Amino acid sequence: MSKSILITGASTGIGAETASHLASGNHLLLHYNSSAQAARNVAADVEKRGGQATLLQADLSGEAGCRQLHAELARRTDRLDVLVNNAGGMIKRHGIRDYQWGLMEDIFALNTFSAMMMTALCVPLLEKGQDPGIITITSLAIRHGGPTATIYAAAKGALDAFTRGMARELAPKIRVNAVAPGVVATPFHDKVTSPAQIKAWTETTPLRKIGAPMHIASAVKFIMENDFMTGETIDINGGLFMR
Ligand SMILES: NC(=O)c1ccc[n+]([C@@H]2O[C@H](COP(=O)([O-])OP(=O)(O)OC[C@H]3O[C@@H](n4cnc5c(N)ncnc54)[C@H](OP(=O)(O)O)[C@@H]3O)[C@@H](O)[C@H]2O)c1
Repeated sequence: MSKSILITGASTGIGAETASHLASGNHLLLHYNSSAQAARNVAADVEKRGGQATLLQADLSGEAGCRQLHAELARRTDRLDVLVNNAGGMIKRHGIRDYQWGLMEDIFALNTFSAMMMTALCVPLLEKGQDPGIITITSLAIRHGGPTATIYAAAKGALDAFTRGMARELAPKIRVNAVAPGVVATPFHDKVTSPAQIKAWTETTPLRKIGAPMHIASAVKFIMENDFMTGETIDINGGLFMR
């Protein structure tokens, strides 16, 4: 049976690749914010792979944008089977001396509040879905920390706690899981990570490489198809968390 799947931040990187992985036979509701042409390319790829694509634009860094996206979504589908909370970003690197209320608000709004709000808004549609699930993209920063990304790490850590709490609250009807990527080659790093930092990550990663979007997209597909899994986070980071 065809699934209705909303992916936030589906225009580039992990979200775009996840759309490709889940395209075949499904209705993909592809959210984007500023990358309209990239989103159109993802939609064309989804249709080439035998899926149906609907594009939805919204800025999710505020409540109004989340409500706008949900309203558009509800006009296009009467049920949702999967919500992928993927939109996010680091905004900028910072040390403790750079902390400002506005920066903290911006990072939490984009990464944490948007995913929490979209989850809350989408639950009624998910309750009408078939084996419905919520999959949130968090980060290795949750456990690894990061001296120049601590607000971002905390924002993703809040989503990790949110995932487990929601999994209990929404069971048994809706499964709630997360994927925590390591360093993955996407536009995410264009503004916040230098080539020297990428090289350093590569050298300290046991598998001696950084990830590709497909490494994360395939985990999202696995979770979607596994109906005995809830409240879990899958770490995919080339072995950085090996003990
Ligand atoms: N790449 C990594 O190493 C890495 C590691 C750990 C976790 N993650 C997480 O993985 C997720 C996907 O990131 P990515 O690596 O694929 O980066 P990306 O290619 O930069 O994708 C980010 C997506 O978020 C959307 N977005 C950004 N600001 C937005 C806003 N204000 N409102 C709505 N959407 C917005 C972008 O949409 P537009 O381009 O259309 O504006 C884009 O589709 C993020 O949550 C990120 O924190 C990434």
